[in-house]
Amino acid sequence: MFTGPQTTLPDGKVPQLRVVPMPSDANVHGDVFGGWIMAQVDIAGSLPAVRRANGRVATIAVNSFLFKQPVLVGDLLSFYADIVKVGNTSITVNVEVYAERIRLQGETVKVTEATLTYVATDENRKPRQVPPL
Ligand SMILES: CC(C)(COP(=O)(O)OP(=O)(O)OC[C@H]1O[C@@H](n2cnc3c(N)ncnc32)[C@H](O)[C@@H]1OP(=O)(O)O)[C@@H](O)C(=O)NCCC(=O)NCCS
Repeated sequence: MFTGPQTTLPDGKVPQLRVVPMPSDANVHGDVFGGWIMAQVDIAGSLPAVRRANGRVATIAVNSFLFKQPVLVGDLLSFYADIVKVGNTSITVNVEVYAERIRLQGETVKVTEATLTYVATDENRKPRQVPPL
């Protein structure tokens, strides 16, 4: 039915987030609403950014977003997030989302890929330098 190219979860990597969308997250056609997926991607991407910034960050840009395969209610979603660039105040993160179709023999499909940029901010919500490693 929704057989995209089947794959496996990335070897040796730990997802930032795992979540199962519920019927209340679906659009009028019964598939999961893109805006719900975008919110989860933003959360997942912010986690390595917050750790790297050692404090609060704000999302300044969604550079790219690809919904390659549909997400179904009941899928087990795994969000993998990797920092791909650190600037003066910004941190850019690539997020990949895999769905295990629990209700369809558990096949695994890569459903979404996105790149987002976060800015390290201070207590006044102004940009601050990303601290050195
Ligand atoms: C995040 C915020 C504090 C940054 O302040 P700003 O004055 O706009 O920041 P700057 O123009 O100095 O840019 C900060 C960094 O973002 C980068 N940046 C700016 N525009 C960008 C864009 N379109 N894409 C990617 N990176 C961008 C800059 O290159 C800079 O990075 P660097 O310091 O590593 O070189 C401010 O834009 C803000 O509050 N935005 C709202 C954030 C928010 O509420 N997000 C949730 C969704 S509404």
